[in-house]
Amino acid sequence: MVEHCEILKLLGDSTRLRMLQLLFKEELSVAELQKILNMGQSRISTHLSLLRQAELVNVRKEGKKVFYSYREQPDRAVEGLMQNVFAVTQSQAQVRADFKHLVHILDKRRKVSEEYFNSIAERLGKNYCPGRSWESIGHMLLQLTPNLVFADLGSGEGVIAHLLAKKAKHVYCVDSSPKMVQVGSDIAKKHELVNLTYQLGDIESVPLSDNSIDVAILSQALHHASRPQVAINEAYRILKPGGRLLVLDLKEHKFLKAKELYADRWLGFSENTLYQYLKAAGFQQIDVYSASKETREPFFETLLAAGTKGS
Ligand SMILES: C[S@@+](CC[C@H](N)C(=O)[O-])C[C@H]1O[C@@H](n2cnc3c(N)ncnc32)[C@H](O)[C@@H]1O
Repeated sequence: MVEHCEILKLLGDSTRLRMLQLLFKEELSVAELQKILNMGQSRISTHLSLLRQAELVNVRKEGKKVFYSYREQPDRAVEGLMQNVFAVTQSQAQVRADFKHLVHILDKRRKVSEEYFNSIAERLGKNYCPGRSWESIGHMLLQLTPNLVFADLGSGEGVIAHLLAKKAKHVYCVDSSPKMVQVGSDIAKKHELVNLTYQLGDIESVPLSDNSIDVAILSQALHHASRPQVAINEAYRILKPGGRLLVLDLKEHKFLKAKELYADRWLGFSENTLYQYLKAAGFQQIDVYSASKETREPFFETLLAAGTKGS
């Protein structure tokens, strides 16, 4: 621990006191301190080094830049002393002038970021934004998911189901491929997801009871059904009154190769066809809209169709 008289000695120098006043308000680089204090780099660095040795400042490196900030003192008596010194000296003309300069520096920093975002407004949504991914957005939205019972119909290995299982009361996966069911069950077991059950079954004859599910999902599965209307009727049957159906499927397209490449039965559906399927099954509050469009050929577009089973 630094001796109290050492700290008093350090505070006895007006430049160091001005520096501490500034660093108490804001984390600053050496260059920024230079500008505010109008002093050369070596003088500033010498003072900073003393403050650093006395553990009065924090140091943070960012590439070649070094930032300093005031370090709150663990010794309450010392921290009290520092606060008193800051309070008493803040009205001095020199310190007030420094604070004015500080406001300019902070304004400049803000402007750099503001100008950048001004220049990309209207493009940010479409452009690359470091760290932003649909996967991370999915995880964020998942936090809003209530504790419900889900049925993932035509689940595959369960990309969506595994995510939902983190928050759901229970997730039932239904898929007609024994291999998918096996792989999905193994993954669930490995991750100890006890609220996730896989069942071999057809989306046109779902092996789940009537009125037992809060949310039914058909993600890229409906275009594999031989009778899509029957699959939608089945989703309606298993839903509790008030339950919701969410369908994600391709908008109708002309990419014939999808049949051999992805074993698709239907080349997607029009908005109206999906609407009519849900309406005929008995769903209410139906909403169908385009959720995304790929930017590469054949420009697949995904529709989201949602409906509620009346109570
Ligand atoms: C394109 S994958 C979609 C998987 C998952 N829903 C997703 O979004 O990642 C289609 C899945 O539906 C399953 N499937 C196809 N026809 C089915 C049917 N009639 N009944 C149940 N599952 C079916 C396939 O085995 C496959 O796992």
